[in-house]
Amino acid sequence: MSAPHIPVMMNEVLESLDPTDGQTYVDGTFGRGGYSKAILDAADCRVEAIDRDPQAIEVGKLMEDQYKGRFMIHQGCFGDLDRLVNIDSCDGVVLDIGVSSPQLDEASRGFSFQKDGPLDMRMSQEGPTAAEVVNTKDESDLADIIYIYGEERKSRRVARSIVQEREANGPLETTFQLADAVRRAVRKDRSGIDPATRTFQALRLYVNDELNELERGLRAAERLLAPEGRLVVVSFHSLEDRIVKTFLNNRCCTHARGSRHLPSVELPMQPTFHFRHKKPVTARESEVAVNPRSRSAKLRWAIRTDAPAMEI
Ligand SMILES: C[S@@+](CC[C@H](N)C(=O)[O-])C[C@H]1O[C@@H](n2cnc3c(N)ncnc32)[C@H](O)[C@@H]1O
Repeated sequence: MSAPHIPVMMNEVLESLDPTDGQTYVDGTFGRGGYSKAILDAADCRVEAIDRDPQAIEVGKLMEDQYKGRFMIHQGCFGDLDRLVNIDSCDGVVLDIGVSSPQLDEASRGFSFQKDGPLDMRMSQEGPTAAEVVNTKDESDLADIIYIYGEERKSRRVARSIVQEREANGPLETTFQLADAVRRAVRKDRSGIDPATRTFQALRLYVNDELNELERGLRAAERLLAPEGRLVVVSFHSLEDRIVKTFLNNRCCTHARGSRHLPSVELPMQPTFHFRHKKPVTARESEVAVNPRSRSAKLRWAIRTDAPAMEI
């Protein structure tokens, strides 16, 4: 049986979302429902949740009975969240980016280099698998994927090793075959991090188109949120956090702030969000001690203004 998912920075998520009686919230990454439950228990409110993973949907269906009339689950991508939900606007959107512990722990999902399983990595269990990517892309495309999404400096060596492996022994089918091919190309450095970490991250992000999804999800939240509604995003690595930070800086128009030394200029766009705190919130030491996954979490949040959603 897989480990339960321990929700990260739950108190901080509730503080920033501020669940209130009579309001409606969207949980775009239901997972095992940790955030959804906490929101529903914090106020007499409604939650509509989304996940692309059929196993998460099964858990959500059980929760619909438990919170009758207050909770609803939808299968799909949060990039389409404003089209998936049954409401025209909402008072808060929360996104907890990445994979859940059950996804990582189940060898058959193929996300983990620590468990031998089919090289799958698809959250929605649809579309090309990680095995199809490593067995069909040419060496240079593979190197680009591993460099861009895994930030692996030795991406060309890793791609070469994968191609050598498939030429010598046929297609790579399992997580252990891929991890071994990576480890033959890159040695463990002094950080002690397994060299397979970055290549597995790259393939997961690529297979699930996660970075584009995040950008689409932020824009969809902007369209759905009512004035004063809150957008709360928890992310786990720099590629994701950079997207959230850039989006919020653009939407808060912080880059276009006037200077007292220059004549005032008309802002080209109305800010669609404003910040309460510009800096990200991180997990407290006490949480990191019991849930090491929280160490890399960054929470950013902002409040929707009444300006129309931007079209860019
Ligand atoms: C970190 S877990 C969320 C855990 C959740 N907060 C909890 O407390 O149980 C991320 C979840 O988001 C889902 N997910 C990731 N990207 C998604 C996307 N683009 N659209 C919908 N669901 C997505 C994954 O399938 C996974 O179940």
